[in-house]
Amino acid sequence: MLDHLLSPIKIRNMELDNRCVMPPMGTNLGNPDATVSEKNLAYMKRRAESGVGLIITEITGVHPSGCVGLGIYDDRFIPGLRQMVDTIHQSGSKAALQLHHAGREAMPQLKKGDESR
Ligand SMILES: Cc1cc2nc3c(=O)[nH]c(=O)nc-3n(C[C@H](O)[C@H](O)[C@H](O)COP(=O)(O)O)c2cc1C
Repeated sequence: MLDHLLSPIKIRNMELDNRCVMPPMGTNLGNPDATVSEKNLAYMKRRAESGVGLIITEITGVHPSGCVGLGIYDDRFIPGLRQMVDTIHQSGSKAALQLHHAGREAMPQLKKGDESR
């Protein structure tokens, strides 16, 4: 049973070292402008060092009207997200990203990015 869990698996062209997956969990560690922070990177480094096969990173807003975590609605987010993926890959884990819009839960107090100001 554990052997199976810890054995590699290929999902289309992505090979995972094992079948353990970290689900997306909002950390509230992002910068106020919804870009990836040093704290995000440190957190992901620790998680990836655990050896988990796949990390699904936290909710990432597709539009400023519903962005309550990290953002991915503008090119300015690319460098930080790239760094986060590189950090995860450096420990041998793979990364997936959870696209998100908070919808009616997009309370002004929680908003980050362009509409938080
Ligand atoms: C602090 C915290 C943050 C979370 N953030 C997200 C998130 O960003 N996206 C999501 O889909 N689920 C989120 N969740 C739900 C977890 O992914 C969920 O608990 C996990 O999939 C385990 O599922 P279970 O609680 O049904 O066992 C979060 C849970 C916690 C405790």
